[in-house]
Amino acid sequence: MKIDLAMNFARVTEVAALAGHKWLGRGDKNAADEAAVEAMRHVLNHADISGEIVIGEGEIDDAPMLYIGERLGTGSEPIDIAVDPIEGTRMTAMGQLNAVSVLAAAKKDSFLKAPDMYMEKLAVGPSLKGIIDLNKSIEDNLRAAAKALNKPLNEVTVITLAKPRHDDIILKMQSMGIRVFAVPDGDVAASILTCLPECDIDVLYCTGGAPEGVISAAALRALGGDMQARLLLRSDVKGSNKENTLHSQKEQQRCEAMGVIPNTVLRLDDLVSSDDIVFSATGITKGDLVEGVKRNGNLATTETLLIHGRCGTIQRIKSTHDLCKVDAEIRDIVL
Ligand code: FBP
Repeated sequence: MKIDLAMNFARVTEVAALAGHKWLGRGDKNAADEAAVEAMRHVLNHADISGEIVIGEGEIDDAPMLYIGERLGTGSEPIDIAVDPIEGTRMTAMGQLNAVSVLAAAKKDSFLKAPDMYMEKLAVGPSLKGIIDLNKSIEDNLRAAAKALNKPLNEVTVITLAKPRHDDIILKMQSMGIRVFAVPDGDVAASILTCLPECDIDVLYCTGGAPEGVISAAALRALGGDMQARLLLRSDVKGSNKENTLHSQKEQQRCEAMGVIPNTVLRLDDLVSSDDIVFSATGITKGDLVEGVKRNGNLATTETLLIHGRCGTIQRIKSTHDLCKVDAEIRDIVL
C-alpha cells in the first residue's frame, strides 16, 4: 500500500469523528452514527484508491451506506477497508468516555469476511504473543499469561466489557486474584490498550461484535500483539433466550455464504493475513487511547492514532480543524 494513503485514512476517521461529535450527549445514537457514516463515506469516495468495504455498517439491504461490498474511491489501487464510523455510539449519545472512529485498510483479501454477529475475543500485547489459546479455558490462559510475564496472578490485569453475559467470568477472574477493568462499551480501544506499554493492561477477554473483532485484529497485528477469536451464534451467547433461535439460523446461513464456521477458533492470521495494514482511530469523546474532539467556536482539535503495519510506526496526530472549511468540504455534515 502506498505510504501517503495512510494520511488519507487518518483524514477519514478525523472527519467522521468531527461529524459524530456534533451529536455528543444528544441521546440519539443513530443520528450520530449516520453523520459519521456519511462523512466517512464522502472522504473515502474522494480517496485515490479502488476500495471495497469488507467490514462495514451491515449488508446492502439494511445499511444505506458503507455496506459490505460497497466500492469507494477514485483510484486504481485495490484496497479492502474495515470501518466502524463510531465505535461507541451509545457513549457518544450519552457523553461517555472512549468513543472513537476507526478504520483499517489492507490489500485485497487480507481481512476475514464475517457477518455482523457476536465474537468471543482474547487479545494480548507483544509480550504475550504466542501464549494464548482459546481452545483452553480463560483461567488457563491467564495462568499462562502470568507465568510468561513472570508476575503473580494478582498483578495481571484483564479488560472486558461490563455486560451481564460477562458477570460470571468477571467473578471467576476476580476470585483468581486478577484485576478486572470492565468498561461499558468499546472493545476495539480496549484491545489496543494491551499493546501500549504505558497502559497497565495485559489481556482483553470479552464477547462483542465480530466487525469490531476484525478491526481490533488489524490494529493488534500492526502493533505486534496477538489475538484469537471465535464467531458465536446468538443462541450460544450466555443469557440469550429462545427468541434468538431464528436469528441464529439466519446467522448460520450468512456464515455458510461467507465461508466461515461459528465456534471454531480463529487465529490472528485467520482474522488478518497481511502486515501491510494501516489502522487509524480518532477520538470522539475523551478516552484512554486518544483524546476526544475539543471544540472552541469554529475550531476543533482531534487526536488520531495512526499505525503503519509494514514499518511498525505509530503516529499520534494532533490536528486543528477549521469547521467552516471542513463543512465546505463535506457540505452540511459537520456543522
Ligand atoms: P457500537 O457503538 O459500534 O455499536 O459498538 C459498541 C460495542 O461495545 C463494541 O465495542 C462491542 O463489540 C459491541 O458493542 C458489543 O455489543 P453489545 O452492545 O450487543 O453488547
